[in-house]
Amino acid sequence: MANKTFDAAKENKEDEFYTQISDIEKELAHYREHFKGKTVLCNCDDPRISNFFKYFALKFNELGLKRLISTCYKNQEVDLFTQNDCEKAIWLDYYGNPNDPTCTDFSTVEVKEFKGDGDFRSQECIELLKQADIVVTNPPFSLFREYIAQLIEYKKSFLIIGNQNALTYKEIFSLIKENKIWLGYHSGDMKFVVPDYYAPRNTRFWQDENGRKWRSLGNICWFTNLDIAKRHEELVLYKSYSSDEYPHYENFDAINCDKTSDIPMDYNGVIGVPITFISIYSPDQFEIVGLGIVGSCEFTNERRMEILDKNGLPTGKYTVNAKGTLYRKHLESDKKPAAFKDCETGELYQSIYARILIKRKK
Ligand SMILES: C[S@@+](CC[C@H](N)C(=O)[O-])C[C@H]1O[C@@H](n2cnc3c(N)ncnc32)[C@H](O)[C@@H]1O
Repeated sequence: MANKTFDAAKENKEDEFYTQISDIEKELAHYREHFKGKTVLCNCDDPRISNFFKYFALKFNELGLKRLISTCYKNQEVDLFTQNDCEKAIWLDYYGNPNDPTCTDFSTVEVKEFKGDGDFRSQECIELLKQADIVVTNPPFSLFREYIAQLIEYKKSFLIIGNQNALTYKEIFSLIKENKIWLGYHSGDMKFVVPDYYAPRNTRFWQDENGRKWRSLGNICWFTNLDIAKRHEELVLYKSYSSDEYPHYENFDAINCDKTSDIPMDYNGVIGVPITFISIYSPDQFEIVGLGIVGSCEFTNERRMEILDKNGLPTGKYTVNAKGTLYRKHLESDKKPAAFKDCETGELYQSIYARILIKRKK
């Protein structure tokens, strides 16, 4: 068992984070109208422990579902709660319980075995994906790009949990920019039960009174392509543009805005805003132009600069375009010392990392 546990930990790349039913309920409360008459697939979910399966099975009648499919990857550490044999990949097909619509015990629903390992990319799982209308789950973080790509390829509706870092992945950002996917309602801190073999950590880790291990992650969000009211709520803009408050970048034709709530109401050009903008983004109000990093936007100069240390002192190391990010002139009012010095003019600069470039639509 010790070896098996160790191998599992290695193989799973810390993909085992079990979602709480309260988090699922909180988000799903905003999507009820999408589920009537639909087949829901939870394809990274052992139905014996998954709260996604549990949520949809309990709400089967209330949501008016047609069918619920839950598939389990054989690597899953199911014996965390149940001591179930996790050698076999299994799946379950639920059509509700017409004899007892208020049923809360799903243990008698037949569990079927896959021939393969239940990988969401396997042919057996793809056949089930084809039969589904909406996919809802928390997929493995390490396979997030592939997971979304498959949903897009098979033109599925979905609501899935992911890490906010994924917003800056090239492929994911393109989908956001093209308005093919967007963020759901809740984002930020989320707590997950993790398997016993997960090593303790100094922070964001604890054990409850039953000995179950927990981890919290501070940058979680929901990704979806289901239309939601929030997506059409416009941000109230109240600030006026001034060149002092919104300095222009040196290597891109756009102004910098440090807080989403401070986006000026009267600037018609491109504005660089923090990544968190995506959580309030309404395509009715704004257009996303790009991501403010090398490879996503075309820098208008390739200025050579010396890198300064955290106290603003020379390091003897050099870069162009502030290591591939947007940058602006260093201001006397800046709390942080300058990060770069122009090799030719001696001018000082601040690099502005992780900006989304947007434009007001009207
Ligand atoms: C973040 S956990 C979430 C589990 C469950 N969906 C939940 O929310 O409680 C991701 C799950 O995907 C499973 N998984 C990893 N690789 C997979 C694959 N290739 N195909 C299907 N599931 C996979 C992991 O075993 C893990 O249980």
